[in-house]
Amino acid sequence: MSADDTDDRLEVWCAGEEWCPITATATILGKKWHPVIIHRLIAEERGFNDLQRAVDGISSKVLSDSLEQLEDHGLVAREVVSEKPFRVEYSVTERGASLEPVIESMREWGRRIWPPRSNCRDRPLFVPWPHTWGMADLTLPDHPTPPEGADDVWLHCIECSHTLPPFNDVVFTCPECDGLLEVRYAEYPTFDDFAGDERVWRYSAALPFEAGVSLPEGGTQLHEVPRLEADLGVRNLRVKHEGMNPTGSFKDRGMTVGVRVAQELDVDRLACASTGNTSAALAAYGARAGLETLVLLPEGKVAAGKIAQASLHGARILEVEGNFDDCLDRVQDLANRGEAYLLNSLNPYRLEGQKTIGLEILERFRNEEGRFPDRIVLPVGNAGNTAALYKCFRELVQSGALAPGDVPKLTGVQAEGAAPMVEAIREGNDETRRWEEVETIATAIRIGNPVNAPKALPGIRETGGTAVAVSDEEITEAQRDLAGEGIGVEPASAASVAGLRKLVASGEVSTGEDVVCLTTGHLLKDPDAAAAAGNAPEGVPNGTDDILRHLAGKSVGGSGLLGLLRRLL
Ligand code: F0G
Repeated sequence: MSADDTDDRLEVWCAGEEWCPITATATILGKKWHPVIIHRLIAEERGFNDLQRAVDGISSKVLSDSLEQLEDHGLVAREVVSEKPFRVEYSVTERGASLEPVIESMREWGRRIWPPRSNCRDRPLFVPWPHTWGMADLTLPDHPTPPEGADDVWLHCIECSHTLPPFNDVVFTCPECDGLLEVRYAEYPTFDDFAGDERVWRYSAALPFEAGVSLPEGGTQLHEVPRLEADLGVRNLRVKHEGMNPTGSFKDRGMTVGVRVAQELDVDRLACASTGNTSAALAAYGARAGLETLVLLPEGKVAAGKIAQASLHGARILEVEGNFDDCLDRVQDLANRGEAYLLNSLNPYRLEGQKTIGLEILERFRNEEGRFPDRIVLPVGNAGNTAALYKCFRELVQSGALAPGDVPKLTGVQAEGAAPMVEAIREGNDETRRWEEVETIATAIRIGNPVNAPKALPGIRETGGTAVAVSDEEITEAQRDLAGEGIGVEPASAASVAGLRKLVASGEVSTGEDVVCLTTGHLLKDPDAAAAAGNAPEGVPNGTDDILRHLAGKSVGGSGLLGLLRRLL
């Protein structure tokens, strides 16, 4: 991309072959500026508070990358006066007078040159791209090296880059360094490569098999929620209701792939630790495949519907004296001793199936709105879904199907009583601290040691997203809000909407955004929580006149309790 001089004080060019915000630099008033600094200047000048906050909240890793880039570009590092939050002190002489035309010409230039993005027409140019600071890592390695015995799919360690053939051995983490494994492919598909029913296996071009053990799963609704959208005040709000999968949660997408891999490896016993939904899905898909299943659950902390599912589908259920993290430690030990094939989200193949949530959202949203959503908000427990969505986006960027500037910001929500990911994002840490004590009404995400954090934290950061914690009361309120739109979810699922409400209120999410909230599990998973959040049944005598009197009493301000008193009197 060559230089573009729309103003003699402005020069913008790119190191890459095409215009790309990642390698952009600019010269203003004869000085070269790093994109972060330019965005900061513009944010301040134009009063774009959310961009300013985003740049101020820049993480330590991103900051050190940016300092390196500053030096590469011969910029003056002394202008960075604070690292956390990131602050740049700059002195542009005649700033007030001269910056305005510079900004105007940058915006004009940006309008002409920026990759087509239909929803930028009616917005300020620089606001939707906090991840265009120049540091976003949305790429996969250019020259992957498959191991011996792998054709076009293999396992790659995200820590030490060790590679393994896909189905030779039963492995869950890297045999060299114990790091997390990721499935890699020789080629990544574009949207044109997907065909067939709008369900998980439509996306087989992005998966390690053509078909799996299926019930079938995926193809969930992307609901419009007009009242909630107006109430929250974002430009467009959609709810992807994963509770409509065969066993009532998104886990089915991972199991259809994971159990297929188990068949390939010829294992005979499947196992997982679970806060409930994984165990329900594993039990059903294991039953479908005719395999023995074993599930380890934290005693007394799993919602009734989930235990009922695991039980009826024939899983052997072990209630462990401990929390979910303890259960996962135990099941990892069992797997390492060769006693069972582990199907928690630590298993990289599970996440392959869960990528299809992202593929469905992007395809459907673009078909209906003509653009991709700005943000996806999701509940976070073990952070598997967050990692899966990030992988989905990077693969699409790799194939050229998605521009880096179109990648939705991943926004994770945890319960206040179990929020190690939120803590890590807030403190700019590259790993999470294990919370020994966790508690929340949202038992599905009652997790203190999210094993996928090394994959998910970069996903939140590099997409320009964030993480937020919500109280149990806020979760219950959001559960009622969704129910008011006809969407019945379990408490953990409602966390996404509760988190969005909080982020809009704090100004961290702009009201101009198109947002998709993920609701991960069905209302009937946790009937006790639903009944506690909803209206209490009112007892009435067996007589039509009595019922009418009761209804009339209620309509003039009576309540269930008043009705009860009236009947007693
Ligand atoms: N929502 C629901 C309803 C869940 O069941 C889970 C996880 C999550 C969100 C969090 O997803 O782990 O990918 O960040 N449930 C697991 C289980 C832990 O055992 O059912 P994550």
